[in-house]
Amino acid sequence: MEALAVRMPVEHTRPPATSHQSAPMLDALDAYLDAGTISFSTPGHKSGRLIDDELRRLLGDPLFRADVWLNTSRHDTALRAAERLAADAWGAGEAFFTVNGSSSGNQAVLLALLGPGDKVIVARDAHMSVLSGLILTGAEPVFVSPTLHPEQLMSTGVTPASIETALAQHPDAKLVVLTSPTYHGVASDLPAIVAAAHARQVPVMVDEAWGAHFPFHQSLPIHAMAAGADVAVVSLHKTLPTISQGAMIVTQGNRIDRGRFKSSVRMTQTTSRCLPILASIDSARRQVALHGWGLLELTLALAALTRRRLQETPGIVLIDETSLGIPASRFDPTRLVIDTGSLGLNGYQVESILREEFGIAPELSDGRGIVCVVTVGDTRASLDALVDALTAIATRPSQRSALRPRVAARSVGDAIAQGELSMLPRDAFFARSRSVPLPTAIGCIAAEPIIPYPPGIPVLVPGERICWNKLLYLAQIAASGAICAGAADPRLLTIRVVDETVGS
Ligand SMILES: Cc1ncc(COP(=O)(O)O)c(C=O)c1O
Repeated sequence: MEALAVRMPVEHTRPPATSHQSAPMLDALDAYLDAGTISFSTPGHKSGRLIDDELRRLLGDPLFRADVWLNTSRHDTALRAAERLAADAWGAGEAFFTVNGSSSGNQAVLLALLGPGDKVIVARDAHMSVLSGLILTGAEPVFVSPTLHPEQLMSTGVTPASIETALAQHPDAKLVVLTSPTYHGVASDLPAIVAAAHARQVPVMVDEAWGAHFPFHQSLPIHAMAAGADVAVVSLHKTLPTISQGAMIVTQGNRIDRGRFKSSVRMTQTTSRCLPILASIDSARRQVALHGWGLLELTLALAALTRRRLQETPGIVLIDETSLGIPASRFDPTRLVIDTGSLGLNGYQVESILREEFGIAPELSDGRGIVCVVTVGDTRASLDALVDALTAIATRPSQRSALRPRVAARSVGDAIAQGELSMLPRDAFFARSRSVPLPTAIGCIAAEPIIPYPPGIPVLVPGERICWNKLLYLAQIAASGAICAGAADPRLLTIRVVDETVGS
């Protein structure tokens, strides 16, 4: 078995300015529990007393004891202290914890920075929460398509030149919104894009949901704050040891209106924030600020070893910076993107074999393959199990089935390009709509987003008129049995369109 070479941690990529030993949210929770407080407040389970036995067995007593509401001033003081420490660890000016993932973070940022009719330059590979932010604000998007790899049909990020062109064509744009890294671990050239936007005094927001670990190791792509972005939204729960939904907004500089920012964050969050989630964000900050470099050094070594072993397995094709033709500095090597086409199996089939026969769950599967996320929580044993399972699948000729032909890159490129925006996303979303069979939707205005995987980039956003290119591509997608995110009918037999007969 190949030995794992781990260098000893020698330095933090950016030594934190503050001591990160403390965790204020954990301290406040500890003090509350120590005091033996009898609560007549929410939550109704009263420290777990009313909890069903089976649930208690599955989740454990401590979780329910920790699900409490501190006195408001203690909660706010602890939260502010925890957010200050997180801002320091991320090299930001301010941080705001969110308990509904980056989804609510994206909505909060758009609500803070955009108003009805404001133009916003948006990289087309935007998450659904960015699209819902456009609906909330009534802003007018100008979409910039990411470059697509011609064979892998994966986004290789938006180029600085395409953002510069959009800024030159729309000098009244109020904000640039990027997704970096993508689901598949590809980062855009953030420093160059930020420089182009700042040259025109336009702030940049980065949906960095998948890059919470980036600040803590120099072998990972540069993170948004280090690249000079004004705002970034990070899902700690995706790549760091945080309970699901734990995420954060980080900001810096003076291009954003702080007052409106703070109210937008409050308005998009529950008023009953789950203390275990907040405490887990705080504790993950402490872990990565103190030990992030070493933990990631080990994770990167494990990921590299896994990559090498998989590359030696016939039939397993790994997508990485070399196959995508991008610099290594723009690829997150902890992301294992595996093309399963050479096995004669699509990603859905491989996922179901992995789950049912090997008890292994990839992060994502699609028509092309699977994506596995390697994080600081992985071990040599977990990754060996993955390699062994994939090797077993690869050497099983009986599992092979005919794959449907792939769609040409040209048609995907045409399908994800911005179509004619006949209505603002907000107006289309709130307009009277009807469901029509997909083949009859030509010329109609989409009332819902349609986001097929791969490449996970919207083909339609609400307000776009459905042209032949988009319709033909969606028909191919529907025929392949793919599931479309965002659609009321994910199998795309029907599609929700604006009812233009109303009032005519
Ligand atoms: C690019 C991107 N942004 C935002 C999100 C939403 O993150 P969360 O699950 O933390 O709400 C996701 C979720 O996968 C994502 O891929």
